[in-house]
Amino acid sequence: MSKLQKQMRMVDLGTTVKVDKSGNRYNAVTKEGVKLNALMGTHKRKAAYESGNALQLFEYDTGSGRRYWAEVPMSEFLNNGLPEIPVGVDVPEDHIEAMEFIHSSYSLKPDSLIMNELKWKYLIRSAVRAKNIMMTGMSGCGKTMAAKALVNALDRPDFYFNMGATQDPRSTLIGNVHFNNDDGTYMAESLFVTAIQTPNAVILLDELTRAHPDAWNILMPVLDSGQRYLRLDEKVDQATIKVAEGVTFVATANIGNEYTATRMLDKALLDRFTVIEMDILNDTEEAGLLKYMFPNVEAKALEDVASIAHLTRVEACNNAARIESGISTRTSVELSGLLYDGFELKDAAEITIYPQYDAAGGVDSERTFVKQIVQKFITDGTEEELFTDEEMDSEA
Ligand SMILES: Nc1ncnc2c1ncn2[C@@H]1O[C@H](COP(=O)(O)OP(=O)(O)O)[C@@H](O)[C@H]1O
Ligand SMILES: [Mg+2]
Repeated sequence: MSKLQKQMRMVDLGTTVKVDKSGNRYNAVTKEGVKLNALMGTHKRKAAYESGNALQLFEYDTGSGRRYWAEVPMSEFLNNGLPEIPVGVDVPEDHIEAMEFIHSSYSLKPDSLIMNELKWKYLIRSAVRAKNIMMTGMSGCGKTMAAKALVNALDRPDFYFNMGATQDPRSTLIGNVHFNNDDGTYMAESLFVTAIQTPNAVILLDELTRAHPDAWNILMPVLDSGQRYLRLDEKVDQATIKVAEGVTFVATANIGNEYTATRMLDKALLDRFTVIEMDILNDTEEAGLLKYMFPNVEAKALEDVASIAHLTRVEACNNAARIESGISTRTSVELSGLLYDGFELKDAAEITIYPQYDAAGGVDSERTFVKQIVQKFITDGTEEELFTDEEMDSEA
């Protein structure tokens, strides 16, 4: 079902709208003042406006559940509609629009991102409600991807900052002080200063956990809903820049198995966000993603990759785990990319997986343990394997 069809479902049958002209736009509005333009074409609105008729929502009597808008006399609009609203209870137009947007938003999630519907809606809802969002989860589980998808879905001005890569937080977040003979000392403001002054901007702070503590200190008042300003200079009190109306921040943080990062991230900073944890994909989801991304690679091979990743993740969750963290989705995507380019599982694992696991301790090492898991999926001797295939072919 398309996004529009879903929205259409949410409007009651018999809903009647009047079309007004504003500039060169034809707006279809219910008695309660809710704009429903998206649910019908411009030509339909224009025609109703020109004939002085209202539009009403009907359902085809074929039982298909399909609906359509038809012109009805204006008296229908005036007499019809929902019961009078008691005085004092305002139907918040914004609220209805926000709800419709949130609940029809799953279609805005890119197919390439695996994230369940509830989580995605919660993500959209937090942004619509102007909350600052912190995406957490282990490395390579899709935090940056989800944050970027959110930003795309919102259709608002957006800015991206990789906080993990900033060497000098002051110049990234505030700007640089320069000098020339004509102007003396002056400040070249950072892109971040522009970003926070852009109304309704969505500002992505990627890898916030890896940022320099100075960056957190600078961001503290910016992110605090009670303050919302950037201090340009630590010494001078009045040198601040206000965060514009509607600006929201979306941060990502590697939290999960990496406890150290959690501890390092200041509790006060964390309190300024709604935390949304990215789930680790299960083996079915992971296999589905890999098949979607690499339709030309043999499905069985990709299922094996998903199983390997899954087994390591299950192990990492055990009480007496022999490895600290499981293989990330990023790694299984990389590994599958190598399979696509003709590498054998054995070699692909050698390159993408093993370097992530400590070899210290020999047979008891993390690397040995992971190798043993991979080994189960490697057929020893390709010739034997081919022979078996031939056997099967000749029997068929
Ligand atoms: N949930 C997911 N859905 C789809 N792809 C994913 C997912 N998680 C990880 N990936 C893959 O792994 C890569 C890295 O994801 P990324 O968002 O950069 O991880 P993170 O920011 O959590 O470290 C992505 O480019 C994508 O190919
Ligand atoms: Mg990331």
